[in-house]
Amino acid sequence: MSAFTYQQGSLHAEHVDLAQLANQHGTPLYVYSREALERQYRAYDEALGEWPHQVCFAVKANSNIAVLNVLAQLGAGFDIVSLGELERALAAGGDPTRMVFSGVGKQAIEMRRALEAGVGCFNLESEDELERLNDVATAMGVIAHVSVRVNPDVDAQTHPYISTGLKDNKFGIDIERAPAVYQRAASLPGIQVIGVDCHIGSQLTSIDPFLDALDRLLALIDELATLGITINHLDLGGGLGVCYRDEQPASPASYIAAVKERLAGRSLTLIFEPGRSICANAGVFLTKVEYLKLNQHKNFAIIDGAMNDLIRPSLYSAWQEIRPVAASSDAPVRCYDLVGPVCETGDFLGKDRDLALQQGDLLAVMSAGAYGFVMASNYNSRGRPAEIMVDGDQAHLIRRRETIEQLFESEALLPVRT
Ligand code: LLP
Repeated sequence: MSAFTYQQGSLHAEHVDLAQLANQHGTPLYVYSREALERQYRAYDEALGEWPHQVCFAVKANSNIAVLNVLAQLGAGFDIVSLGELERALAAGGDPTRMVFSGVGKQAIEMRRALEAGVGCFNLESEDELERLNDVATAMGVIAHVSVRVNPDVDAQTHPYISTGLKDNKFGIDIERAPAVYQRAASLPGIQVIGVDCHIGSQLTSIDPFLDALDRLLALIDELATLGITINHLDLGGGLGVCYRDEQPASPASYIAAVKERLAGRSLTLIFEPGRSICANAGVFLTKVEYLKLNQHKNFAIIDGAMNDLIRPSLYSAWQEIRPVAASSDAPVRCYDLVGPVCETGDFLGKDRDLALQQGDLLAVMSAGAYGFVMASNYNSRGRPAEIMVDGDQAHLIRRRETIEQLFESEALLPVRT
């Protein structure tokens, strides 16, 4: 059940007309549905049920503080990868003890702030990082709780740019090397080992790679037990895919059921770090047709949204559905490439789409709630879009459109030459 449906001839988010939002706030515009966000979070939480667990939303997928706050109110934890994400999650009311800190390049200043805030677990990605964290923690007189992010060397069968669990990827520590790293961690005064972690990639549609990784992690946990190292939690990362076009990803419920079955008889807290599967289908990107350019071989619809606003099509050749906001049109149906105003051939949001279009029409790029606004840039000196959260029949502006003044307010001219 989607939160985006046609009602009275126009596409709505819950009970709010997207045409009215475009009118009021302008385009391009991101619009999220609170109900859809909550439903997806609950799909994880309810499937985990009585099993001790934490669902740590991956902040990188959508870091607007209103989004984080809606999830925090449901009890979500957060997976953070930078000082900026930590501060956002805290500002949104996130509980630091339910946060896990991932990422290959944690700086000492980030570690210090995370320790001071009381972040629940550091997911260590290298041996150097372990030593640095121990130094920072001992200097502060505190103990850092850690998991080692293990690279289980499984093929996530997804786009190479978003596959992270292969030996060739920069992420995690080789599973063969992990026992030695755990032994070192256990010997350090500023470190307490609490978990094992992995994240093998994103937009996985089959659960088999997750289960392969899980089997390898369980074998590691057993090996660690023989070394006297007790593991309390197992963090399986994020990565569950969503339907953009015709993919048939596993549901959180079936994924979690399969994981629980494999864990029977063990008392391990389960942690997940879902991003996309919670927010992708809770958001759309609204854009307006500026011009139609009907060439002999190709029709272009030039829209006001561009690769700087939503880069997934350009960067990963990602396909996202594009729907007209008005349910019907008198214009002829033609096959269009939907291209933005940015001066790059790769600036498109969709190619070869059959649509009935005329100037001024509104289009909704679907499934844009994850890795949409967060990856936006100011390329071509374009201000980033506004963001709206719909809640029933109410719409809330959760981020103002970036103004032209903001674009260069932190820049400075050189002093006049004398
Ligand atoms: N945990 C870690 C350590 C991660 O690196 C990621 C995503 C997640 C959790 C959340 O994964 P998800 O549940 O969202 O798949 N920009 C790309 C996706 C990059 C994913 C990076 N890591 C895209 O637009 O497809």
